[in-house]
Amino acid sequence: MNVEKLKKMKGKEKIVMVTAYDAPSARMAYDAGIDVILVGDSLGNNVLGYKNTIPVTMEEMIIHVAAVRRGAPEAFIVADMPFLSYQISIEKAVENAGTFLKVGANAVKIEGGEEFGDLVERLVNSGIPVMGHIGLTPQAVNRFGGYKVQGKTEGSRDYLVRSAKELEKRGAFAIVLELVVEDVAKEITESVSIPTIGIGSGKHCDGQVLVWHDLLGLNPDFSPRFSKKYVDLYSIVVEALKRFKEEVKNGVFPGEEHTFKS
Ligand code: KIV
Repeated sequence: MNVEKLKKMKGKEKIVMVTAYDAPSARMAYDAGIDVILVGDSLGNNVLGYKNTIPVTMEEMIIHVAAVRRGAPEAFIVADMPFLSYQISIEKAVENAGTFLKVGANAVKIEGGEEFGDLVERLVNSGIPVMGHIGLTPQAVNRFGGYKVQGKTEGSRDYLVRSAKELEKRGAFAIVLELVVEDVAKEITESVSIPTIGIGSGKHCDGQVLVWHDLLGLNPDFSPRFSKKYVDLYSIVVEALKRFKEEVKNGVFPGEEHTFKS
């Protein structure tokens, strides 16, 4: 997969993206034929135990982007630019985005709309492919006052459509639409020539992305309505750990077959 192939999928074949944060999950995603692996800054809440994505640093993301690349040497990998890694100055943003490419990413994703047009253009001109991300942008949760569905008012709708067009004009190769009402997601998808990849934004997007832990049921305390739990891995893992504990306590494990003799 590459940026050009991905762009050509629009209107022909749905794009499938999933987050992954480490080498084994990257390998599983690649072996499953997933089109794009996103090392999301959702690393913060899903792996690092933070309340949201705000505390995630470049240093943390770099470790996980490099691990994902080691687990899936041939995959198309997008690295999420964490909070304050691209908002302070264009120079700092180019440097940080370039670091992600150096450790194995094929592209970066930034949260934000038309206000980031200059940055997108500069990154693309520096040889760094950019995936946009509009709608509910979790790094702005404090400004939104919560994780709220976007595109419900005329002002919000106009901003989202304008932003998608601007991101396309400035060279983004795809746009994530997060928690955008279905009709606005459809309008955006039909208004731009680059693919839209939705999460909680309905069926009209050119592709869909889900978060690893939501899709595999790894967090029993979080089952968002827009996601789908394809397996309840939390229960399966807890059950296996209980069996291990029981077998050790009862002297069943290790057995002869696990034991070396002199
Ligand atoms: O960080 C992330 O996982 C994301 C997806 C929700 C698109 O940005």
